[in-house]
Amino acid sequence: MRIVLLGAPGAGKGTQCKRIAAKYGLVHLSSGDILRQERAAGSNLGKKAQSYMDAGELVPDKIIVEMMAGAIKKAADSGFVLDGFPRTVNQAVELDKALTSAGQKINAVLNLEVNDQLIVRRMAGRRSCPKCGAVYHIENLKPKAEGICDNDGDKLVQRPDDNAEVVANRLKTYHQQTEPVVAYYKNNNTVYDIDANRTADEVTAAIFENLNAMVSV
Ligand code: AP5
Repeated sequence: MRIVLLGAPGAGKGTQCKRIAAKYGLVHLSSGDILRQERAAGSNLGKKAQSYMDAGELVPDKIIVEMMAGAIKKAADSGFVLDGFPRTVNQAVELDKALTSAGQKINAVLNLEVNDQLIVRRMAGRRSCPKCGAVYHIENLKPKAEGICDNDGDKLVQRPDDNAEVVANRLKTYHQQTEPVVAYYKNNNTVYDIDANRTADEVTAAIFENLNAMVSV
């Protein structure tokens, strides 16, 4: 299976992609996580991406397409679920070209729909583990011990781009540049619109229902 998960910042893409990857044995490829790893490693790519990420702007397509191409190629045999990519129509076109030349295609696109007020609350309360990448929320998805990762006992941190000003810009960027990607896929692929204003478990159940129906066809 090759799946794309679309949705605004904080819609729950990372949370749901981890669950999809675990259930269907897919590789979870998050462009945001790869960029954060590059930044932490101090690579040239990480340095180039830094100012865009801190401002809530998109990193230029050329950088992102090159970065994702290698990861997607590696995961092609096992199947993958894409989180945060593609994020512009140009990225979606480039992804389609690369897959077509390898005789492959995207099998399903899941579009998480959440209202903007809820998104602001979700991002203000998000905490993540710098070591394993696990994501929690101070009210909705609490760790067993406050501020500590369940998996490895590391101290949870808040992402620097989750402050109110940057979140507002990330949402604006999403509406202007990423919403057209939903329309692009609706013209070319099967898109499942998922009401993601519900609890994480309810959203997971809706996603699995759609994917199970697709797999059994
Ligand atoms: P990226 O890391 O991709 O950030 P994002 O798209 O803004 O998405 P998030 O990771 O913030 O949210 P999410 O949807 O994964 O939500 P989560 O599951 O964590 O990108 C960061 C930056 O990198 C971009 O701004 C850009 O600069 C750059 N970038 C990345 N990809 C790029 C690309 N392709 N092109 C150009 N630039 C790119 O959930 C959020 C919170 O809510 C958590 O606390 C979670 O516990 C909680 N939660 C989740 N689901 C629910 C639920 N159903 N109910 C209640 N709480 C929930």
